[in-house]
Amino acid sequence: MNFMYDDITTIYQQIFSLNQAFLQFIQTFIKKMPSRILDLGCGPGDYVNELARQGHQVTGIDSSTQMIAWAKQHHQGNFHHLSFTEINTLKGQFDCIYCIGNSLSYLPYDATDEFINDVFSLLLPEGRFILQLVNWDRYRLAGDLDFPVIQLTDGKTFHRTYEAHPDSTVLFKTEIQKNGQPLQTWADHLYPRYSDSFPQEFTDNGFKDTAIYGDFKQNPFGTENSPAFILITHKGS
Ligand SMILES: C[S@@+](CC[C@H](N)C(=O)[O-])C[C@H]1O[C@@H](n2cnc3c(N)ncnc32)[C@H](O)[C@@H]1O
Repeated sequence: MNFMYDDITTIYQQIFSLNQAFLQFIQTFIKKMPSRILDLGCGPGDYVNELARQGHQVTGIDSSTQMIAWAKQHHQGNFHHLSFTEINTLKGQFDCIYCIGNSLSYLPYDATDEFINDVFSLLLPEGRFILQLVNWDRYRLAGDLDFPVIQLTDGKTFHRTYEAHPDSTVLFKTEIQKNGQPLQTWADHLYPRYSDSFPQEFTDNGFKDTAIYGDFKQNPFGTENSPAFILITHKGS
């Protein structure tokens, strides 16, 4: 089965629109002009482009060949076809590294420590790491995440469901339909991270401390109601 993100590259913006709240949130952490910024799992590179247009030196990496090809063709910034497990090949250090849009949920559990250590090495001493996942605590409590069906052009619709899998992963099933009939379907394993344990993995691997929010307006995180899980951490120079 194809990687969903390779197939939906050209319609990505119809499904996942730009989150202006993130672009405001990140301004708090990138006071220096220009800052060196790294976007992990950048998709089509829309955030890289916005920050590059503001004058920053921005790099985006993604494991989808099509996403990176699209980003290079349409956007400002530096783009590399790399997986989360290959970021130790990047050169230099960054003022801010972020991984948003639930991208890190694709990282298998056994790759977590290496990923956190690589992010640590890639951050400047005063740098910040920002992570956004779906609120997996809410999934654990409710047994589902209820994202609305998204209307696409040409009468098509985008659907997603999250199914518990026996090995504690989640099967992320996505589908494009037309007239109620499936046109394309995908299924990927996701690896949920929970608020009672994931922040500790960062401090166990050298990060100084972690702050948790429920959205990019910095509302407190609530397991039942927050739309997202946002973690911000630093090396504590
Ligand atoms: C929902 S998209 C989020 C894209 C972008 N960060 C945003 O917020 O719009 C998830 C992205 O993670 C990327 N991804 C999934 N697994 C990855 C991996 N192992 N390494 C790098 N990128 C990965 C996908 O290709 C996809 O572009």
